[in-house]
Amino acid sequence: MSIAPSRIAYDVRAGYWRGMKTALPKPKLILGIESSCDETATAVLARSDDGEIRVLSSVIASQNEIHAPYGGVVPEIAARAHMQKIDTLIAKSVADADIEYSDLDAVAATAGPGLIGGVITGLMCAKGLALSLDIPLIAVNHLEGHALSPRLTEPCAFPYLLLLVSGGHTQLLSVNGLGAYTRLGSTVDDAAGEAFDKTAKIMNLGFPGGPALEKTARKGDENAIVLPRPFKGKPHADFSFAGLKTAAARAFAAFETPTDQNKADLSASFQAAVTDVICDRTARAMEMFKHGKTGPYRFVVAGGVAANTRIRAGLETLCQAKGFTLSAPPSIYCTDNAAMIALAGAERLAVGQIDALDVKARPRWPLDSESALHNPASGSGRKGPKS
Ligand code: KG4
Ligand code: ZN
Repeated sequence: MSIAPSRIAYDVRAGYWRGMKTALPKPKLILGIESSCDETATAVLARSDDGEIRVLSSVIASQNEIHAPYGGVVPEIAARAHMQKIDTLIAKSVADADIEYSDLDAVAATAGPGLIGGVITGLMCAKGLALSLDIPLIAVNHLEGHALSPRLTEPCAFPYLLLLVSGGHTQLLSVNGLGAYTRLGSTVDDAAGEAFDKTAKIMNLGFPGGPALEKTARKGDENAIVLPRPFKGKPHADFSFAGLKTAAARAFAAFETPTDQNKADLSASFQAAVTDVICDRTARAMEMFKHGKTGPYRFVVAGGVAANTRIRAGLETLCQAKGFTLSAPPSIYCTDNAAMIALAGAERLAVGQIDALDVKARPRWPLDSESALHNPASGSGRKGPKS
């Protein structure tokens, strides 16, 4: 369990921000709940009427250890673990924020997309709190949380280009305003983090695979093994990682008795290939984003894979070449967290967008439903586009 260090408390009872002489109107206090994958997270966030944001508390319980023996997230186990932790975490984030439940103005919870058992756990808790405290409920799209996350720590003006690279998603979005997102590109198969995790699993590097593979790659030669660069140079800005993952698996199978050096070389070559395609696809999206705009241009990278130093370095060079300012939320807000869900809830509350208590959990919920409808990133089923 970890606690974000950015606690700057608003003294609800005294009615002013601690450390400030002038009393200000009470900001809205929002409880955020996140449970869509393998992190149970809660946070309390304050939003003043002028839009100033403070994270009063942010608590995360990771399920890494529980899923490690399986080499991946097991949905049923994840849902059970969320259920076991969630009420303790909610109590902790309220206590850490130094407020009472009755001080809360709204509760925001991830309502999708994600693993349905986990999403239901968090959303039902939020409904119970909204009902018992008689406060509004905001059902948040997890991707909207990521899209707005840079605004937790800096006043990122709209529009900006966002690359979300995590275990569940790889998308390039133009973030035009609250609720106004244009998907410029997304993966047609695996997410980048998923490709990292599966490749690491093949080499038995440990779980979660991304950080383990990055560590192994440090001793490797990235030119040692030739791997494909799917979609590189294509006019669209979509991604594909399945072929790259399969090529890495084949290359590994070709080693009769793989040595540590073989693993390091394959890791480095794989990481270089992922970096190459991410930078190429992002460069394409930057051209699309710039179209009809005068600048300045901002590029934000979020999601667990953004922690990878090789990928980050590639994106930094790209931003310099393309005239974009690079923003990366600190890693506590880059990976799954509830502060970003509380922020999305606070922004929606400020414009009166609240949800009824019968709102449903949605395992599939594209952020840009318009482009998903016409150009689904990963196919459509009876219930509409998957993403
Ligand atoms: O955003 P996140 O915490 O959770 C979601 O998937 O929503 O991202 C986790 C993903 C995992 O696939 C993990 O392996 C990957 O991010 N990851 C990394 C690194 N750190 C985390 N991938 C590559 N390099 C890393 N250093
Ligand atoms: Zn996420």
